[in-house]
Amino acid sequence: MTREIHVFGNWKMNQNKGDIYKFFEELGDSLSELKCQKGISPQFIHLPLALELATDYGIEIGAQNCSHESKGAFTGDVSPTGIKDLGASFTLIGHSERRAIFNEDHALLAQKTKLALENGLKVVFCIGETLEEREADKTLEVLQTQLSEGLKGIAKDQLENIILAYEPVWAIGTGKVATPEQAEEAHQFIRQYASDNLGFSAEELIILYGGSVKPSNAEGLFKMSNIDGGLVGGASLIADDYLALCKIAHEVNS
Ligand code: PGA
Repeated sequence: MTREIHVFGNWKMNQNKGDIYKFFEELGDSLSELKCQKGISPQFIHLPLALELATDYGIEIGAQNCSHESKGAFTGDVSPTGIKDLGASFTLIGHSERRAIFNEDHALLAQKTKLALENGLKVVFCIGETLEEREADKTLEVLQTQLSEGLKGIAKDQLENIILAYEPVWAIGTGKVATPEQAEEAHQFIRQYASDNLGFSAEELIILYGGSVKPSNAEGLFKMSNIDGGLVGGASLIADDYLALCKIAHEVNS
């Protein structure tokens, strides 16, 4: 089975309404014909607008996070039920910014993942080591713990609805991209570990690379046999760059 290359954009806390209209206007007609899986995660408040504008382009729209509970007294939180109800199809969970800035731990991430899946959302589950951990030769150990603890208790029949994203923290928003070989090594490990220990299908599991992906470095990454596309921050805010990344994915897929 050949896994299709994905180009998923994480807009983080960026883009106002005007920027979003402009982004979709600038994408142009050719995008929908490109053979690759396309996704974008805007801020919660812009999910309805993005869902409306993305339909013509075949871009899946997802959230960047969701609550660990489906309803109740959780002021300021956003439930996976509500995200699904809007028509979004997936959510990111465990992004390093959620882990580091909002102190989201393994147990919380496992709870969120379980609930999102139970509510019919696909989950893009993010993992990755810090520079300190890499320099201490702890990368694989960290990835293993993030996977085994963060995906604890997930029903086996839900695993096909999980995409993994390897995002080394030192490469996110820094312009320092992992080399295709560095990323491939981590992806290979993740695929092996996830299939041997967690029940994923090694053949079918999609693993995205994230961390300073842009049109100038994407080809080398997307061509690696264990890298199934990118989770892209900064470059996904620019329509021309998003389109260029989808063109590269299309070429690799063809
Ligand atoms: P970046 O962000 O592409 O801007 O490095 C990636 C991410 O955080 O998902």
